[in-house]
This record gives sequence, structure tokens and C-alpha cells, in this order.
Amino acid sequence: MKFSLTSSWVVAALFATSSFAAVPLSSINTADTGRYVPNEYIVEMASISGLAGKRAYTGRTLYYHMHKRGVQFDVKTEYDTPDILVGASMKIESPDDIAKVAGIPGVQAIRPIILIPGPKPIESFSVSDPNDSRLSPSPMSTHTMTGVDKLHAQGILGEGIKIGIIDSGIDYKHPSLGGGFGEGFKVSGGWDFVGDRFTGSNTPVPDNDPMDCGGHGTHVAGIIAADPGNEFGVVGNAYKASISGYRVFGCGGSTTDEIIAQSLIRGYNEGMDILTLSLGGVDGWTIGTGSVVASRIAEQGRVVTIAAGNDGSDGAWYTSSPGNGISAISIGSVDNIVVSVQNVNVKGVEHAPIAYLQLLPLNVTGELPIYVTNNDTTVKDDACNPLPATTPDLSGHIVVIHRGTCTFQIKADNAAKFGAKNFLIYNSDDGELTGVSIDGYQAAMISADDGKFLVGQFAAGVEVKLEFPQNGSAATIDSPHGGLTSAFSSYGPTYDMFFKPAVSAPGGNILSTIPTAQGSWGIKSGTSMATPFAAGAAALVLQARGKGKDVSREMRDLFQTTAIPVASSKEEGSIANTVSQQGAGLVQVDRASQYKTLVSPGQLLLNDTANLDSLHTITIRNTGSESALYQLSHVAAGTAQSLKADSKWASLGPVELVDAPAGVTIIPSSVTVSPGSSRRVIVRITPPRGVDESRLPVYSGFINIASKTESLRVTYLGAAGSLKKKAILDNTDAYFEQKLPLVLTPGGEVQSEPKSYTMKDLDSPSLVYRLTFGSPAIKVDLVQKDASIKPTLTKRGWFSWLFDWGSDVDDLPIIGPLQELGYVPRNSEAPVTDNGFNVFNFIGVFANKTRIEDGEYRILLRALKVTGNPKKLGDYESWLSPVISINSTSSS
Ligand SMILES: *[C@@H]1O[C@H](CO)[C@@H](O)[C@H](O)[C@H]1NC(C)=O
Ligand SMILES: *[C@@H]1O[C@H](CO)[C@@H](O)[C@H](O)[C@H]1NC(C)=O
Ligand SMILES: *[C@@H]1O[C@H](CO)[C@@H](O)[C@H](O)[C@H]1NC(C)=O
Ligand SMILES: *[C@@H]1O[C@H](CO)[C@@H](O)[C@H](O)[C@H]1NC(C)=O
Ligand SMILES: *[C@@H]1O[C@H](CO)[C@@H](O)[C@H](O)[C@H]1NC(C)=O
Ligand SMILES: *[C@@H]1O[C@H](CO)[C@@H](O)[C@H](O)[C@H]1NC(C)=O
Ligand SMILES: *[C@@H]1O[C@H](CO)[C@@H](O)[C@H](O)[C@H]1NC(C)=O
Repeated sequence: MKFSLTSSWVVAALFATSSFAAVPLSSINTADTGRYVPNEYIVEMASISGLAGKRAYTGRTLYYHMHKRGVQFDVKTEYDTPDILVGASMKIESPDDIAKVAGIPGVQAIRPIILIPGPKPIESFSVSDPNDSRLSPSPMSTHTMTGVDKLHAQGILGEGIKIGIIDSGIDYKHPSLGGGFGEGFKVSGGWDFVGDRFTGSNTPVPDNDPMDCGGHGTHVAGIIAADPGNEFGVVGNAYKASISGYRVFGCGGSTTDEIIAQSLIRGYNEGMDILTLSLGGVDGWTIGTGSVVASRIAEQGRVVTIAAGNDGSDGAWYTSSPGNGISAISIGSVDNIVVSVQNVNVKGVEHAPIAYLQLLPLNVTGELPIYVTNNDTTVKDDACNPLPATTPDLSGHIVVIHRGTCTFQIKADNAAKFGAKNFLIYNSDDGELTGVSIDGYQAAMISADDGKFLVGQFAAGVEVKLEFPQNGSAATIDSPHGGLTSAFSSYGPTYDMFFKPAVSAPGGNILSTIPTAQGSWGIKSGTSMATPFAAGAAALVLQARGKGKDVSREMRDLFQTTAIPVASSKEEGSIANTVSQQGAGLVQVDRASQYKTLVSPGQLLLNDTANLDSLHTITIRNTGSESALYQLSHVAAGTAQSLKADSKWASLGPVELVDAPAGVTIIPSSVTVSPGSSRRVIVRITPPRGVDESRLPVYSGFINIASKTESLRVTYLGAAGSLKKKAILDNTDAYFEQKLPLVLTPGGEVQSEPKSYTMKDLDSPSLVYRLTFGSPAIKVDLVQKDASIKPTLTKRGWFSWLFDWGSDVDDLPIIGPLQELGYVPRNSEAPVTDNGFNVFNFIGVFANKTRIEDGEYRILLRALKVTGNPKKLGDYESWLSPVISINSTSSS
């Protein structure tokens, strides 16, 4: 994606776009394997004795059984860590063989290996001169937001805690990260699982040196571990902790969830108290290998913190894995309370310097006059269309443009036709101040008021000039969005109704270490930055409470119950942000470390209305020396309209919130707990009434538990609607200007009439479809051209309620399977994206690679609905292709 920068400032720029241009069909790459490593699986066994570690086909072992059943396979790696992962990864070419393996005694699960993209390009600034007067100093506001400063003042610095960082490696030679590697150094251990050249699809070349290449892991490490005493004043939040670097990315490209699982297991076996992963890929489900392994390690009494993802602009139902691991702690991002600005001097009229949102000054020399593209500040689509031919040469001007309607890039491109290079974008009245980064130009955002002032002067004929000091104009201002959930932070919940993220930590605008070769210090943003912050916070809690399995297992509860909910806006009295984006709120590390009251569980999962889990018990434990009276009360968070109105698609971020509280009864509503004992209270929560179920509202909130001295809460979340009713397949033409699903010919046209293919020399069709919601199973099958099947999706639209297909999938007249995918995430609705649609390339073979005889067929596409029964026909949506003839002798 062009806009995959993960700074809150930059991502918010997306919302300037209100209408998408259709995506050209020609952009479809039919060779793409999607999110899977082709034909590779992890087969999980009940015990290692069932596997046959020596690969001999003897004894009643997995390999023996596979061999006996004629399964073609090639073992890659074996796993033998009881309670975490026992089994083997292997190549199995044929899905028919997968079915055979599934029937072998002792086989627990077969999971495809998923590609996890590398850290996304993140807006980053490297700063080589720490005394650079262009930079504003206020690095450790994140510590005061979260109570870390209080623990540091008590000398709690993470000493004695081992943290494994699973990332792109660490530049351990950095002077603030210990300057060396191995015993006695801060970075005391680690492993490189992949080597520099690894891309995710070639063979990894492991070695024992986890030196960073990309720079991401070094930034992550500094947030936890940077030693104080550097000229920037940067201090890691647990800088006395011992660090191990587990490197899972090459210098570029992706990794796989198998490698992530390997790194998690190694960190577990090497005794890490905390494992932290600032990585992930869109998933939406909790069952991938990486998620499952992370979750099991957490259940064994280690803390596992994982980034929630930077896809907030994609809206609801878009969490990433392995952060989805059920017992892992998924971390969302809150914006830093201060933002760095620069000031521009105003000449030609009396006015104070104007603040613009940039860390470093725009590189503009001299005094340049302003040019305003529209004198009317009420016009929102300012510069969205080509500027009039009478526009003067703008190369020597600072062009002032109103934000709104189209992207910053379009506005800048229109002005650039007249030579414009430098821009100030003024905010709209109701907009959130955001950073601006436009390819090819220098630009920054100023406030709506400052913009109106400049436009007013220009319209009045005053010649205003601007001067951008290159020194000494940096300042920090209270961030207009500080303390709120970062716009880029991904939204949940998962399709199985777990809430992700669990909690939030500061992740926007973070100064930390980067490799010395890249300048040593830099600023980055993302849940990638929030996650190590949470890992460091966990180290402080472990040190304060005494490290061990019990405290580790309680860590998520401790974080969640002591976090402070984040509001949805800065307006007085505004409702709390949806738990599906903020989790339980912003971590408060001093409280998590020192509160005498322990409350569990930290979260209540209510599921959807069809599977409503209404009744819950909360346990309040008083470990203090005095009896305490607790008052319980309910505070609702905003109910998220998770779907757009009159659309199958999820709402884009920021997701609209409504004030529609759940019904909550707490019995009793106050309890006295004597020292050393605990009391239970019962909570009954019912979905809000009167909400519009067609928007699939996700409701959430907090049960507050307050004594005179301590204030805790339990966070809940549910969906006010049935997930099984949620439509999945996109049958509109909004994306490609062609109705979906569709069959694409080799010539790039949509097949609407019967058509013949040789299935040779690239003469084969592709099935293209989009998922508006996750699906537990996508099935692509071959059927006879005149098979009696009534698909739920027809050319004329949506008719699912008209058809009753009988009860059993076995009734379907299927010739054979072509492809089957399990636990698939929804597609993205953003215009140019890496997850916009799915493609199945039909090359004339069954899923088991057997060639299909010449003849006339159709393709049946089916999507199982969430919580649907895979055996029940009515729980699928389906679509039937036009007739596809295979004629291997045809000359065309
Ligand atoms: C930065 O300034 C401090 C104090 O003003 C000084 O001690 C230090 O040497 C300077 N660092 C550099 C790299 O100039
Ligand atoms: C500023 O721009 C000038 C001219 O385009 C260039 O030579 C200089 O390197 C730039 N300075 C910075 C700090 O980028
Ligand atoms: C805006 O006002 C200036 C100054 O009066 C004038 O020169 C310019 O033509 C105006 N622009 C438009 C588009 O009317
Ligand atoms: C910025 O300040 C430094 C000293 O702090 C000075 O050496 C440098 O020349 C100044 N640069 C500009 C562009 O004024
Ligand atoms: C919600 O219900 C579905 C269907 O029974 C189940 O698969 C899922 O695990 C449940 N989710 C939670 C969080 O309990
Ligand atoms: C491959 O699958 C097809 C369709 O299910 C089936 O007819 C055929 O027998 C299978 N071939 C082999 C070698 O298993
Ligand atoms: C296949 O194509 C050839 C040549 O175009 C044609 O003669 C033949 O009838 C076709 N076969 C079928 C089964 O349609």
C-alpha cells in the first residue's frame, strides 16, 4: 500500500478520501499464492512417540501411517516441546492426502503455514546529532503517562528479568544497548533464524548472530532497554532487564508463522520470562500456528506481548496474528501526550509564528510568499480538481490548501502541475490534526484557525511571506490527540469473539535507538512501539511482585484491571472508545505492580447474541492488611457500528460509535473484603436494546470496582447480533467495476458466456472474489455444467433466503474439490492494498493435482458463515461460475 505508513498522523490522511476509484482488473496477479506458503503444513501430534523422530517408517507412527496410506510428504522440521508444540512441519502436495493424514491416530491438528509480512514502512526520522536544535526534547512523556516514572523512582528497573525480542534483530553494538553481545552484556543471547537474504519464501540460513539489518528490532529494543545517560535523555522502561534477540526477518520481505513458532519455542526453552513480538499479519482468527504456540507459552506461565496491528484505517474485524493468540497479550497503541511541532515565521503582517506538525523543519530557505488555491475557506474539495489555467508559477510559493474530500496527494499533484513544491495543509474544522507526508513534496499540517488567517490575508490582497527557521523553532505542544487511541491501531474483535487488543500502551511518536549505521536515534510509530513498552512494563511488574509462573499468568488480568479507559475524543464527557480498539485501556504500570486488590478475570467475553454468555463471576481479592469496602458500578464504552449502513462491509476506521449501553446487573453492588480473603460478585450483562442489528453493533464497557484507595475494572465485550447471519461474499461491482465473484480470462476480461480453455500455456481462467467478512471455510469445487445447484448469489443479486438446499453438504453434486481454505480473514476495502481480493487460478487440475478430463463444467464457490456448521448446506453462501470448457486439443 502506498499509505502503509503507521504514524497516526499519516494514516489519518487516508480519511481525507471519501470515494474510491475502482481498481483495474489488470492489477490482478494470478500467480500470487496469497497468505499461505504453498503446500506446507504443521502436523501436530498428541505425543512425540507418535511421530517417529528418526523418519523410519516403522512402528505405529505418523510417518508409518502416512507411508502406508500412500501420502507423498517431505518432512522439514520436527518439534518436541511438550505442552507447546509436538509434531512436524512438512510439504504435502495434495489436499486429498491432508484428509488422509487427518484420519491418522494421534494427529491433533494440521495447520497451513502462513506468511507474516515484514514490519511495514514506518514514518521515521533519524537524528544523528543529539544536540540538533531542530529536535524538540521530551522523550519520556510515555513514562509519565503510564506510571513507569514512579517505579523508576523506587529503583524498579526490570533487574533480573529476561526478555526475548522476536523481531528483525538488534544492533547490540549500539552504545546505549550495551555495546556488545553475549554473557555480561545487556543483549546477552539470541539467535538468527533466517539470515540476511531470507524473504519468507526461500530457505532460511540460520546462525548465532542476531545483528539487526532493517532497524525495526533495534528501535523496539531501545524502548525497553536503552541505558540512560545518552544525550537524548531516552530511557528504556526496563533498562536493567536482560535481553535476547531472536531474529525472524531477513533484510527485507516476510517471515512465516512457522519461524515465529520456532523463535517462541526457543525463547521458551531458553527461559525467557517475557517474549515480545512487534509483528503480525491480518488474520481475524485465533487458530494459526503462531497464535496457538504464543497462547500455550503464555498458559505455561510466561508473558507474551504481541502487536495488535496497524490497520486501524481498515476498521472493524481486522485483527492480526499471532497477536490473536487467546492467552497472549495483544497490545494496541495510544498516542503520546505531547507532539513535536516546528514554527514558521509570518512576514508582511503582524502574527505570531504558526505551529506546523513536523519533527524537523521543512527544508525551505528564504522568505516565500503564500499562494492560496481557494479564497473561500468553506470549500472542502479545495484542489481536488485541476487548478485553473490562469494559476501562476507556484515553484516559489508556499501553497496553502484546505484539507478534505480527496487525498493530500491529489491536492499536491494538482498544484504541482504549476510547479508547487511546498505545502501547508490547513485542518478542517472537525478534523484531527494529523501529520502529512506526501510523496515528492514537502508538506505539513497547520490548524484550521491559522489556515483561515492566511487565506483571509491572501484574499484581502496582503502579501504574506513565510520563513522556515532551520534552527531553534522546535517545540512540543500538548497533542490534540494525545492520550487517545492511535488512529492506526487495529480494531477487533476476532471472528470467534475474543477481544483484541487486550490493553494499550504508548506507541505513537516514539524516540528510541536505531542501528548506528542508520544514525543511532530515530522516531517511529506503531503498535510495534507499544508492544515492547508493554513487555518492559511486564518486567517491572514481575520484579515488583516477584517473578514466577503465577504472576506471569496473572499479567493480563493485572494490566487490564488497572488500566485506565481511553476516551473516544477530547471533548468533555465523551464516551469511552470501543474496547474493540483500545482493549481495557492504557496500562498503568505502578498500579499493576503495587495494587493490593487483585481482580479476576480481567475480561468478560459475551459472544454474539446467538451464543450469548450473559452471566459472569468476578473475584475480588484483598491482599492488603486492612479490610476494604468496594463499590461496583457500570460504565459503558461507545458501541461500535461495526458494519457500514446498507453494506456488507465493515466500517472503516475511525469506526462510528453510538451511546447504546448494555444492560448490566451487579450483585451485590458493594462488598467488604477482609484482609487476605476474597469475595465473589455476579454480573449479568445483556446486549443493548434498540440498536440496528444490520450494523452488527459491538458493545463493550467496564465494571468498575473501587475502594477508597484503589480503582480497578473488568472489561467486557459482545456483539449485538448473530455472526451466522453475516453475509460474506461481495457481490457488488464497487471494487473492479465488475460484479463479483467473477471469472477472469487470460486476456484479463470477465468471462460472461461459456468459454473454452486448453489449460496449457497460461490459457486458463482465474476465479476472483472478495470476502466482506471472515469465513471458517472457503471451498472451490468442480461441478457439471448442468448440475442442479441453486447458488445463494445470483446474477440479479442476493436471494439466499429464497432457497432451502436440504440439510447436508453431501447432497451437493460435486465432481471434486479444486481448493479449500480454512479460517480466512476478510479482504480490505481500501483502494490499493495487499489484501483487496482473493484469486484462485484454475489450471485444470483437482486439488490433489490430478488432471481433469476434457468437458464442460462450472466452478462452485462456497463460503461458510461464521459459527456455521460445515455439514449444513444452509450455512454457506455460494456462487456458480459460467460454463468453463476444458478442451486440451483446441487450437485457440
Ligand atoms: C551536546 O551537548 C552537551 C551539553 O550541551 C555536550 O556535553 C555534548 O558533548 C554535546 N554532544 C555533541 C555530540 O555535540
Ligand atoms: C535542503 O534542500 C537543499 C536544496 O534542495 C539540499 O541541498 C539540502 O541537503 C537539504 N537539507 C536537508 C537537511 O535536507
Ligand atoms: C483570491 O484573492 C486574491 C486577492 O484578492 C485574488 O488575486 C485572487 O484572484 C482570488 N482568487 C480567486 C480564485 O478568486
Ligand atoms: C544551527 O545552529 C548551529 C549551532 O547550534 C549552527 O552551527 C548552525 O549554523 C545553525 N544552522 C542554521 C541553518 O542556522
Ligand atoms: C462464541 O461462540 C462460538 C460458537 O459457539 C464459539 O466458537 C466461540 O469460541 C465463542 N467465543 C467465545 C469467546 O467464547
Ligand atoms: C483426485 O481427486 C479427484 C476428485 O476428487 C478424484 O476423482 C481422483 O480420484 C483423485 N486422484 C487421486 C490420485 O487420488
Ligand atoms: C475441442 O476443440 C477442437 C478444435 O477447436 C474441436 O474440433 C473439438 O470439437 C473440441 N472438443 C470439444 C469436446 O469441444
